[in-house]
Amino acid sequence: MEIIQELHKWAANIMIIIFLYSSMMWFWFSADRQKIGNSSFRFFISLEMGISGILLLLGISLIITNPNWLGVKGVYIKIFLGLFTIGSIHLCATKTKKFLDSSMNRKDIKIINIIRALTIILLMTVYTTGTMIRVVHDGDNIKEFNEKIGLYNEN
Ligand code: HEM
Repeated sequence: MEIIQELHKWAANIMIIIFLYSSMMWFWFSADRQKIGNSSFRFFISLEMGISGILLLLGISLIITNPNWLGVKGVYIKIFLGLFTIGSIHLCATKTKKFLDSSMNRKDIKIINIIRALTIILLMTVYTTGTMIRVVHDGDNIKEFNEKIGLYNEN
């Protein structure tokens, strides 16, 4: 169903914006207890949890409503990366929330820095992999269509 694919794509776009925004806040303010403990940062962490959950549900719905995707080259890698990234986002959000509810010991900042940086790399990788698979798949369809109507030219 085209609508689910569209929603999955938009959830992925929103996920990147939210995660990058909250990570910027984290990297700038994690050493400042007052700034990092404010309610808008907590709201962004809740959004990280919520949007990644929606992204997971939409990804699963996409496969259920259109199982043909499973036959497309590279899609298993994309799904594995997607699941791994969503796990990483959840780990990140949980650790950040725990930090905010604790005495905010500076020693605990480093591990969250590392998980956040790795999650950004994963998020970018899944996004580009998903888009590339879609583009290659659409390109094949266009080629097949052109061949069918006799428009395709080998040169
Ligand atoms: C952080 C996690 C994820 C991100 C950032 C992400 C991102 C994307 C993007 C950008 C596309 C291309 C959309 C388009 O151009 O129409 C896509 C497609 C797709 N996604 Fe995800 N996705 C994620 C997780 C998942 C999960 C968990 C599943 C399955 C359980 C999944 C299944 C699919 C499928 C089947 C497609 C269509 C094939 C393709 O274009 O690769 N995705 N995803």
